[in-house]
Amino acid sequence: MAHTIIDGKAIAASVTAVIATEVAALRKQDIQPGLAVILVGEDPASQVYVNTKVKTCERLGIYSEKHILSKNSSTEDVLILVKKLNLDPKIHGILVQSPPPPQVDEEAVIAAIDPAKDVDCFHAVNVGKMLIGKTDGFFPCTPYGVMELLKQSGIDPAGKHAVVLGRSNIVGKPMAALLMQKTPGANATVTVVHSRTPDIAKFTRQADILITALGKPEFITADMVKEGAVVIDVGINRVKDVSAPRGYRLTGDVKFDEVAPKTSFITKVPGGVGPMTIAMLMRNTLKACKMKYRL
Ligand code: GUN
Repeated sequence: MAHTIIDGKAIAASVTAVIATEVAALRKQDIQPGLAVILVGEDPASQVYVNTKVKTCERLGIYSEKHILSKNSSTEDVLILVKKLNLDPKIHGILVQSPPPPQVDEEAVIAAIDPAKDVDCFHAVNVGKMLIGKTDGFFPCTPYGVMELLKQSGIDPAGKHAVVLGRSNIVGKPMAALLMQKTPGANATVTVVHSRTPDIAKFTRQADILITALGKPEFITADMVKEGAVVIDVGINRVKDVSAPRGYRLTGDVKFDEVAPKTSFITKVPGGVGPMTIAMLMRNTLKACKMKYRL
């Protein structure tokens, strides 16, 4: 089947171009959105994500602060910083890179973030608002990015069977919630498949829209996908590759080469959902700033 590769980089660029214009207009009124990113420890993948977020802020004219705490930090150390940033007028968004080291109580840290600055949409107040269809909170960046990819690709989930693989708080659960909302651009019939689901392929083969967030490299093979399905690959997996310059390559949850010909639309890893996550973080930071000033 002729399939379209959804270009996440290009769609993210169109989203961030709008944000940059809005930020420039705000700065003429002496208002600058600000984001604080906290990283606890030295996980190399997390460092890359955090640096990309800060660089994107710079590119769009958003003020940013990067706070790196030692890998031995306690929950209390992180809470002290979060509470300081909650009170900082330059900062409209606070993000604590997940996962922190095991001694840090992530739930307690998330609960301490001012919901008005919770641009990740991890705080229970914002998760609840999203679930009941309120739009005065935030949407979590990765599922929000997937919704935007669908929208900008002209794919309307209404009445379609969307199958979400994975039930994490960051992707799977909010992804299902956004897809099932009674709102334009959603209205899907949603099935969530996870590690305790027997015969996963039975469900994936029924999907009009298949969204994979499992973290299992190339788990989805052609026989698991319906002809003409839309496949969105949220997985970012590092697999060892001695021929690659860094000794590893990135791959998604989908065996792209064999699955792509069966689909109508498909994303690639990298260059699919990844750039959208950052674009939506920027959109949320701008929104947090505008809400503060009631703009
Ligand atoms: N780790 C993986 N994805 C995310 C994200 O969207 N936000 C944060 N804070 N950490 C992450």
